[in-house]
Amino acid sequence: MLAIGADHGGVHLKAVVIRALERHRIPFVDVGTNGEASVDYPDFAAKVASGVANGDFDRGILICGTGIGMSIAANKFYGVRAALCHNTYTARMSRAHNDANILVLGERVTGVGVAEEIINVWLETDFEGGRHARRVEKIHLHENQEAAADSGRRGGEAA
Ligand code: RB5
Repeated sequence: MLAIGADHGGVHLKAVVIRALERHRIPFVDVGTNGEASVDYPDFAAKVASGVANGDFDRGILICGTGIGMSIAANKFYGVRAALCHNTYTARMSRAHNDANILVLGERVTGVGVAEEIINVWLETDFEGGRHARRVEKIHLHENQEAAADSGRRGGEAA
């Protein structure tokens, strides 16, 4: 299952993406936001990225004004590889080389037509594996090491 979320800066492009998903008959969960009222992008990044981290969602799409805030927030979640893509080349490479499990778009940066092409490419491109799998494994090794170091730092504070 795919999850899609946006803040107020990405809500119009989210509607476009949803229509594209429906055309492709791709099932999805829409976690909001659904209006132009100002909201905080980390809240919506968390709804999608925590679901990807715990296995509720296979993949996600997040949209804010620039795509930057959503990328930063989503990549804090365990096992998440969120990629901010501006064109079909970066969309293809984010899947083929980085096995990105969340696509991030910036509504104020990327036009509707380009965004639709990015989504098509991103959904259709498989991870190449091989040497790229070794590199992705290293990212997660660092993720685990940093979690252990953080736990040590917190233990040190308490002592
Ligand atoms: C909201 O104004 C804007 O800051 C947000 O959509 C996003 O671009 C943050 O990175």
